[in-house]
Amino acid sequence: MLNFELYNPTNLIFGKGQIDKLSTLVPQGAKILLAYGGGSIFKNGIHQQVIDNLKGFDIVEFGGIEPNPHFETLMKAVEVIKTEKIDFILAVGGGSVIDGVKFISAAVNFDGNPIDILQKRILIKDNAVPFGTVLTLPATGSEMNSGAVVTIEATQEKLAFGGSAMFPKFSICDPTVIASLPKRQLQNGVVDAYTHVMEQYLTYPHEGYLQDRIAEGILQTLIEVGPKVVENPTDYALASNFMWSCTMALNGLIQKGVPSDWATHMIGHELTALYGIDHARTLAIIGPSLYEVMFDTKKGKLAQYGRRIFDLKGSDDEVAKSAINKTVEFFHTMGMDTKLSEYTAEYKDTADFIVNRFTERGWKGLGENQLVTLDKVKSIVELSY
Ligand code: NZQ
Ligand code: ZN
Repeated sequence: MLNFELYNPTNLIFGKGQIDKLSTLVPQGAKILLAYGGGSIFKNGIHQQVIDNLKGFDIVEFGGIEPNPHFETLMKAVEVIKTEKIDFILAVGGGSVIDGVKFISAAVNFDGNPIDILQKRILIKDNAVPFGTVLTLPATGSEMNSGAVVTIEATQEKLAFGGSAMFPKFSICDPTVIASLPKRQLQNGVVDAYTHVMEQYLTYPHEGYLQDRIAEGILQTLIEVGPKVVENPTDYALASNFMWSCTMALNGLIQKGVPSDWATHMIGHELTALYGIDHARTLAIIGPSLYEVMFDTKKGKLAQYGRRIFDLKGSDDEVAKSAINKTVEFFHTMGMDTKLSEYTAEYKDTADFIVNRFTERGWKGLGENQLVTLDKVKSIVELSY
C-alpha cells in the first residue's frame, strides 16, 4: 500500500430532518451569504427550511449559479461578499452550487487575478471565506471533499482546482431532498458516483485490499439501489444509501494508499465545455472507450472488477472484455446514451480539438501511469463517437 495522509475536517450531518441543526452549525452572529442555483430550492421548500432555521441571522441572498458554474457569475458573488462584509457562505444546492461557493470562498481574499486559481490550478490552503453546505443533489461528493470544477464562459474551459481550505465546515445531507429531483438528475448522480469509484479503483492490481473492497461495496450498492431510486426517490432506504454512496465515492477515503486515474473526467470535462452535455453523461461516453483503449494496462483490474461485481467467469481477457460490456449495460439501465453522436451531430472534430487543448496545457500523459498520452486521448474520443 502507498503511504498516505487522511485529512477531512468536514462535519457531515446526515439524515432526515438534520437541517434543524443549521443554526447551531453556522458561526453565531455571522453575516451569511446564502448561495443557490436556478431556483429549485424555492419549489421544493428547501429555501424556506433554511430561512426558518436561520432566524435572527443577517442573510444576503445570491442566486443564479448555473449548472457547471461560470467564473463570470461567481465573480459577481465575490463583489457582493466584499461590499456586504460577509463572514460565512452557505451553499444550498448540488455540486454546481457547492463548487461555485468553493471558488467564491477562494477568490475573495486571493492575492492576484482569481482566474489564475483555475488556469494555473493554484492550491488554496488558506485565506478562504468559511462555508457550509446544504446538499440537494447526491452525485459529486463535493459536500465532503476539497475539489471543485468551474467553467470560464469566455474561453469555454472547464477547469478543476482545490486545496485543504476548500473543505466545507459542515454539510447537511438529508436524503429526503431527492424527492424533487428530475429523473435525469437522479440518473446522473448514480453514474457520476459510479465513475468516481472507477477512477480510483480501475487502475492496476495493487496491495490496497481494503480500499478495493470498500470501492467494490460502493459499486455494488449503486448497482443495487441506482435503478430503483430513480423510480422511487421517496423510498428512504434507497435515498439514504444512494446519498451516502455518492459521498463515500469521493470524500477521499477510497483513494488513500492507491493509484488513481481521473482521465475519464479530464476528457469528459471537455465535452461539457464544448457541447454542454451533463457531466455524468460525458463520463458514460468516455469511460467505456477509455477502458477499451487502455485495455492492456487495465486488464488485471477489469478482470477483478468483472469477477467481483458481475460474477463473470472465464480467462482474464474474457472477463475483462465482458466487464466493459456489463458497465455499458448498467449505464444504459441508468438512462445514459453512451456515444457522443447521440448527443450532438457535430462531433467529428472533437478528438483533434481536445488533443490540441491538452497540448496547449502541457497535459502530455493522463491516468494512473501517465499512459493516456495524446494519441490515446485521440483514440478514446474517436472510439466514443
Ligand atoms: O440550479 P437549481 O435550480 O438548484 O437546479 C439544479 C440544476 O438544474 C437541479 N437540482 C439540484 N437539486 C435539486 C434540483 N432540482 C430539484 N430538486 C433538487 N433537490 O439539478 C440541476 C443540476 O444541478 P448540479 O448542481 O449542476 O448537478 P451536480 O450535483 O451533478 O453537479 C455537477 C457539477 O459538479 C462538478 C461537475 O463538473 C459539474 O460542474 N463536479 C464536481 C466534483 C467535485 N467538486 O468533487 C466532482 C465531479 O466529478 C464533478 O466534476
Ligand atoms: Zn464526476
